[in-house]
Amino acid sequence: MIDHGATERRILKTELRWAVFVGFLVLMILGAIVYAGISMHINPPSNREFIDPKTLHLSGEFTEANLGTSVDTDGQVTTRVIATQFSFVPQCVVVPANRTVTLRFASPDVIHGILVSGTNVNTMVVPGYVSQVHTEFTRTGDLLMPCHEYCGFGHSQMLATVRVVPPEQFRPGPDGKVTCG
Ligand code: CUA
Repeated sequence: MIDHGATERRILKTELRWAVFVGFLVLMILGAIVYAGISMHINPPSNREFIDPKTLHLSGEFTEANLGTSVDTDGQVTTRVIATQFSFVPQCVVVPANRTVTLRFASPDVIHGILVSGTNVNTMVVPGYVSQVHTEFTRTGDLLMPCHEYCGFGHSQMLATVRVVPPEQFRPGPDGKVTCG
């Protein structure tokens, strides 16, 4: 004679044990996300801004003359970069250390992704949207900015340089622009 009640109880115990284990795992993962968000400033980009990818180069913010780093009259530093198959325009941008910098990206063709090595800058660049990241670079030097989203045959050759200079070496020209050259 088999005791069905005892079997049921044993199964229930095992299930409960697994439920507690999985619940603990979920809490650990959530904790890791919250920790990374608060202490390391690693958050998903929250900007949602539309732009027509077909006319990027013709008018508006992302025309050639507006690309690169510029300083507004109120001192705000903004760097605009186009990610396109298979390069960044411009190939090199200058930013000041220890100062808030706004990075803005747009793509005229396919989905790209960018990250700046050794920093928390990491975002997708999706055609039709402006990707925006606010950050502060703390180390000076040339940082590598590769494309990290497979975008075609030339993906592995797609990279740019972010040149972080000390604040005293960051001198905008009369037009407010700062370039690598
Ligand atoms: Cu652009 Cu990969």
